[in-house]
Amino acid sequence: MYRVSVCQFEPKLLDLDYNLKRMSEMIATVDTDLIVFPELATSGYVFRTKEEVRSISESIPDGKVFKAMQELSRVHDCSLVYGFSELDGSKLYNSSALVNPDGSYQIYRKTHLFYREKLFFEPGDTGFAIANAKGGIPIGMMICFDWQFPEAMRSLALQGAMIVCHPSNLVLPWCQEAMKTRSLENRCYSITSNRIGTEINGDQKETFTGASQILGIKGEILIRLATDSEDIATLVIDPRLAQDKTVTPHNDAFTDRRPDMYILG
Ligand code: ACM
Repeated sequence: MYRVSVCQFEPKLLDLDYNLKRMSEMIATVDTDLIVFPELATSGYVFRTKEEVRSISESIPDGKVFKAMQELSRVHDCSLVYGFSELDGSKLYNSSALVNPDGSYQIYRKTHLFYREKLFFEPGDTGFAIANAKGGIPIGMMICFDWQFPEAMRSLALQGAMIVCHPSNLVLPWCQEAMKTRSLENRCYSITSNRIGTEINGDQKETFTGASQILGIKGEILIRLATDSEDIATLVIDPRLAQDKTVTPHNDAFTDRRPDMYILG
């Protein structure tokens, strides 16, 4: 059995210290094995210039927030997944990190950039790889708008991800419901951590939809948080259920696939 947590909060724009403090406070309230935080949790989302983005970006593994998250993971003995802005040379990526208590980590760079993100970030080049979280549980990461593309979660599930961690900053109304299908068709747990609040930066403004959730392998809602308040919720799951892709005694969601019949590009 495995304890998983979803955290939703309201990051402060361009305030790394505040956001790290808030995540650290929320981690301290739970006893868990894996916590998922929102997309760009360290920095907020509504940027106006590349200079702003650069000012809150950090490189891995030397970044100050990354090191602090590694320390929190070690102290609380749980894996953490969180979104941040990554600097690699002169390039900026909308990334997420998995950090583990034993010091291991993995970075995912968002593949499908949404709306004005295209003004600031490079399209991710990591692809969809799986990694082990605490206890050797294989997880995958995708970020927010990646939900729109079924190939993203499919790629993770086909490689054996039991839990798909999905840091988000959702502004459109469809994702939480659509993720039921993503979980069901892949027979995988999903943890969508969304932020809350309205962020204003000059003439730019976005309102985020909360309703962070943990879904089971049949797309059922195991936990869904409120749309407008900070919260962290934990539940116990059996990740190994995701290894069973049986739909009926005659059907298997994976071995019944007919890749030779599909046109994907
Ligand atoms: C999104 O991808 N942040 C909507």
